[in-house]
Amino acid sequence: MYGVKISGLGKAVPRLEVSNEDIAAFIDTSDEWIESRTGIKSRHISTGETTTELASRAAQQALEDSGLSACEIDLVIVATVTPDYTMPSTACCVAKNLGIKNATCFDLAAACSGFIYASEVAVSLIHQGSYKHALVIGAEVLSKTVDWTDRNTCVLFADGAGAAIYVRTDQNKIIKILTASDGDGSELITLPNLSGPSKFNTIQNPQKYMQMEGREVYKFATTAVPENIQDVLADTGYTPQDIDLFILHQANARIMDSVAKKLDVDNKKFFKNLQKYGNTSAASIPMALADAKEYLKPGDKLILSGFGAGLTWGSMFIIWE
Ligand code: UT7
Repeated sequence: MYGVKISGLGKAVPRLEVSNEDIAAFIDTSDEWIESRTGIKSRHISTGETTTELASRAAQQALEDSGLSACEIDLVIVATVTPDYTMPSTACCVAKNLGIKNATCFDLAAACSGFIYASEVAVSLIHQGSYKHALVIGAEVLSKTVDWTDRNTCVLFADGAGAAIYVRTDQNKIIKILTASDGDGSELITLPNLSGPSKFNTIQNPQKYMQMEGREVYKFATTAVPENIQDVLADTGYTPQDIDLFILHQANARIMDSVAKKLDVDNKKFFKNLQKYGNTSAASIPMALADAKEYLKPGDKLILSGFGAGLTWGSMFIIWE
């Protein structure tokens, strides 16, 4: 089995920054409610930037950070639930923008766990020797999928992209990845992608926008995530107390505090950038990792952990290099 490590990171957000006060100007909410219930203060919202554009910007940054050239990338996976097209894949469009040739390119949909799922695929394929340099991107333009009159969702979700480059190496640094799902919870967060009625199909879909039963998802996250983190560390010789930094999906600061408490870990070890970016689904973990990079030193032990629609969840245990 070949070793794998992260060799480059990047992130991108749309130009327009929208504060809680800006949202409170057009729906019945307040900065106080949003910040105290979620930790979010502001977010970036697309005024035209596409998922492909954000993904390409983050990927270009990751490529420069790694020192690799585009022609060395042989696998591109984009985790997204908001692709610009169902076909071609966002991954193929990113490859075109970056000048990546002949790579295996595809999109993967696992909602807010997408980056962890895509990383598991990429890392496994490098471990087994099929590829050497994989570009894994989480990218979303969620602002086009939310109902901007629904205060239950529109104050939470936002746009952005994060990218990581995984490379083959002698000393393995991606110690373990553990993903899972529970389809019984599939109705808790939904975003339809159905076409309208056609000549032979009369089905009408009344739901246009994303819907979420926030309270139920909150209960799921605060139960599944600490268990999954314990499970990913099992047999590694490490405990949650040994971990230097936890980077969770940036959905809610209260979820992170609850997970910290359940793991008996200081919540200061939980990296947060949701105050600036909101919940960017598949993009949130690689964006947070890109922001956390300046605080990391070689040998640091990291847990990355995602959870979301599906229901899906998953964690990665990494030693930083
Ligand atoms: O990324 C995918 C995974 N998603 C998540 O992890 C989200 C998990 N869930 C959550 O983070 C939280 O459940 C929310 C942030 C979505 C909601 O927080 P909550 O503390 O669970 O609030 P709630 O849904 O129980 O609502 C409490 C009250 C309700 O009013 P009543 O019924 O008590 O009178 C809501 O109508 O807050 C009201 N409310 C709001 N008020 C002002 C809901 N949204 C808003 C809002 N502004 N934006």
